[in-house]
Amino acid sequence: MTKRKIILDCDPGHDDAVAIMMAARHPAIELLGMTIVAGNQTLQKNVRNALNICQHLDLDVKVYAGCDRPLVVEERHAGDIHGQTGLDGPVFQPLIRKTEDKHAVLYIIDELIHADEKITVVAIGPLTNIAMAIRLQPAIIEKIDQLVIMGGSITDGNVTPAAEFNIYADREAARIVFNSGLDIVMCGLDVTRKAACTQQVIDSMAALNNKAGYLFRDMLEVYNRNQNRVFGITAGPLHDPVTIAWLIDSSVLTLKECYVDIETAGYSYGRTNCDFYWKAKKANNARVAVDIDVDRFWQIIRECLSLY
Ligand code: BDR
Ligand code: CA
Repeated sequence: MTKRKIILDCDPGHDDAVAIMMAARHPAIELLGMTIVAGNQTLQKNVRNALNICQHLDLDVKVYAGCDRPLVVEERHAGDIHGQTGLDGPVFQPLIRKTEDKHAVLYIIDELIHADEKITVVAIGPLTNIAMAIRLQPAIIEKIDQLVIMGGSITDGNVTPAAEFNIYADREAARIVFNSGLDIVMCGLDVTRKAACTQQVIDSMAALNNKAGYLFRDMLEVYNRNQNRVFGITAGPLHDPVTIAWLIDSSVLTLKECYVDIETAGYSYGRTNCDFYWKAKKANNARVAVDIDVDRFWQIIRECLSLY
């Protein structure tokens, strides 16, 4: 099997952590490096969480710390969902692992510029690192095979009535990225909300009786409690893993092409406007996920976790 080379840009985060577990072990993917951005929590906390996951699961992945704040707006976190640490729930051993010295944005540029073949970038946090890399070295655009994003929504948001967290947290960065000419796959709330993690799903992962299954349980039980307190639901959406599931098996999502732009003013600040009816008369710049095969999705996650 030829492996798809990816860079994973993330802000772990419970659902990011599951995406990491998937990307780090699945034979269809070669995880070249992990870049961290401020988002669910401060950069420092997100980096710590990434290193804890790698150490706990013995993952041989380099971790690079990136931007510690959005391009223009004030930093915004999702501590209500992911807790004070950004990954409340699991208890880890004292942390020994360290990040690489290079800044994540410089790593992204170097990895792409020196690559012999195109690389896929997966972005499951605010798009600050990606926008910075594009601005600093636009030549990377040619080297990116696809940019697979968890972010946005065709319909309503989860931070404001209009905006989803990853886009809202750095909407100017999102605008740069969506207008960069990259081949974008957008996995928004429209599909990720359908990936609702029930207690039955949690139990089935824990029943794998391995480190990954137990970590999944310890994280998702806390995540679901927080989702219940904030949104009144019992099964929280497992947003970020949808991107990796699509890389493993593209049949899991139904995609529809359109032009997507980011609202950067007014009440709907951070909204992803998906122009399916060509009202803006602009060339399509994204394939937006409109449906998900939920059973296949959980099957893929289980396959990934069983590799531990
Ligand atoms: C996104 O926001 C974060 O809290 C999650 O990790 C996910 O990337 C969902 O809106
Ligand atoms: Ca995330």
